[in-house]
Amino acid sequence: MDSFSPRFISDKEFDDNFPKEIERLSGKHWAPATIAKRAAKFLVNRPGVRVLDIGSGAGKFCVIGAACNDGLFVGVEQRQNLCQLADKIAQHYQLSNVKFIHANVIDIDFSQYNAFFFYNAFYENIEDNNAIDSSVELDPALYQSYTLALTEKLLKMPAGTRLVTYWGEWVPEGYELVYTNGNDSLRFWEKG
Ligand SMILES: C[S@@+](CC[C@H](N)C(=O)[O-])C[C@H]1O[C@@H](n2cnc3c(N)ncnc32)[C@H](O)[C@@H]1O
Repeated sequence: MDSFSPRFISDKEFDDNFPKEIERLSGKHWAPATIAKRAAKFLVNRPGVRVLDIGSGAGKFCVIGAACNDGLFVGVEQRQNLCQLADKIAQHYQLSNVKFIHANVIDIDFSQYNAFFFYNAFYENIEDNNAIDSSVELDPALYQSYTLALTEKLLKMPAGTRLVTYWGEWVPEGYELVYTNGNDSLRFWEKG
């Protein structure tokens, strides 16, 4: 294990794993280490929990979550280069409880998972001038259709399913808010 295990790592140390062009996106697009740790701790409420990061980017949430918890952390990411980078970082830290899938989240079977992390992944579609890059189609209509698909998938999950949202106004139908931080950016939900 690297001497800077992501269990104890600061944002600066973790982000040093990234090439410059990915590191510069960190403040806006990748979860801060403290948020990743808090979210992961809430999501892994029993042994063997399988957590899905909906839009896993460069893998920061999953890698930190996997280093701090016993659950399995799976990230789904539509950009192949980010998926490959996330894999590389997970290997660097010799983590066996994390993996990344290059796919669109709408094609993922949620029944394989027990808990979910969602860092406002679709927002890029409606926000001018803050795209990660131009490698995928961005369109306000996609924001609507992806949000609807996500709502429907989460609604089918059993009672007790846990979800963490980070930023965004979206309220998941059928889920009860069990915690929110001071500025409402970090919210913990549980399906009723
Ligand atoms: C705000 S970043 C969050 C990254 C990561 N969850 C973290 O906290 O570090 C959102 C990511 O979601 C990805 N994304 C957006 N829409 C997606 C979709 N429909 N399917 C898969 N990935 C998607 C983007 O490419 C981006 O990397």
